[in-house]
Amino acid sequence: MKVLAILLSLFLGVLAQHGDWTYSDGAVDQKHWAKYYKTCGGKRQSPINLQRRVVHYNPTLKRLNLSGYEAQEGLFPITNNGHTVQIELPPTMVLTAPDGTKYLAKQMHFHWGGGHSEMSGSEHTIDGIRFMIEIHVVHYNAKYKSYDIAKDAPDGLAVVAALCEVLNDAENTYYSELISHLKNIKYAGQSTTLTGLDIRDMLPNNLHNYYTYLGSLTTPPCTENVLWFVLADSVKLSRTQIATIESSLLDYQNQTLRNDYRKTQPLNNRLVQANFKDFSSSGE
Ligand SMILES: *[C@@H]1O[C@H](CO)[C@@H](O)[C@H](O)[C@H]1NC(C)=O
Ligand SMILES: *[C@@H]1O[C@H](CO)[C@@H](O)[C@H](O)[C@H]1NC(C)=O
Ligand SMILES: [Zn+2]
Repeated sequence: MKVLAILLSLFLGVLAQHGDWTYSDGAVDQKHWAKYYKTCGGKRQSPINLQRRVVHYNPTLKRLNLSGYEAQEGLFPITNNGHTVQIELPPTMVLTAPDGTKYLAKQMHFHWGGGHSEMSGSEHTIDGIRFMIEIHVVHYNAKYKSYDIAKDAPDGLAVVAALCEVLNDAENTYYSELISHLKNIKYAGQSTTLTGLDIRDMLPNNLHNYYTYLGSLTTPPCTENVLWFVLADSVKLSRTQIATIESSLLDYQNQTLRNDYRKTQPLNNRLVQANFKDFSSSGE
């Protein structure tokens, strides 16, 4: 019995280490996150559907100030963590929010679909439309000494999100290097390094127009401390690039990592604001 208990605790330890949750398979799929991670059933969860007819235009919201995002040299670890590909970012990348609060970059990762051909996988939707891929650049409030402290603080985190669309066969060369490294981190837990990075170029052309609201992490423990900025302009990738992202990585069960997005969550009377006016028309 004691041996069994020890074995069980070792087993649970391994699970906890890898994150024992999944998007769609097994006991802790996203329908059941809230059973094991209570906050996932909370009232200010992310992602949400950005319904443009209820978005509030706020002309006093300033532009985002993203500094240190341009081309930089160095070693940037990228990891297949079993849920996504994650790039570690240096704290020299700084987001200044419209209210002046400074947030330091921590990591960037992606959510995608690919469950079957042409199946999209963004987390936020706009008027119900799910985009192909969603990019998250995760930052923590600079008033905290580290990400580990900030991640549990009520005003700890800010995420800049961008949505990706297909642009036929036009390769987005700003993504070529990252995508070429995916084959080296096929297995969950594997890492490699990028020797240069230009996050500015990997984001949409227009960084000025955004939607903003108070939400949560979109993965367990779903902490409700994230100030979200969802950029209105999108990133364009080729069909081949999207297919490569959707098929290159395996999870800890050696299953192809697909559909790693959370379904949209209830808004619950939260205010969604935009700093630009023409969001209710389709074009810009
Ligand atoms: C943007 O933020 C950087 C870093 O905090 C700061 O040095 C710069 O002055 C800011 N730029 C504007 C236009 O506010
Ligand atoms: C996944 O595949 C690798 C390489 O074949 C193997 O070493 C590993 O044990 C497999 N993991 C599982 C959980 O099957
Ligand atoms: Zn994310």
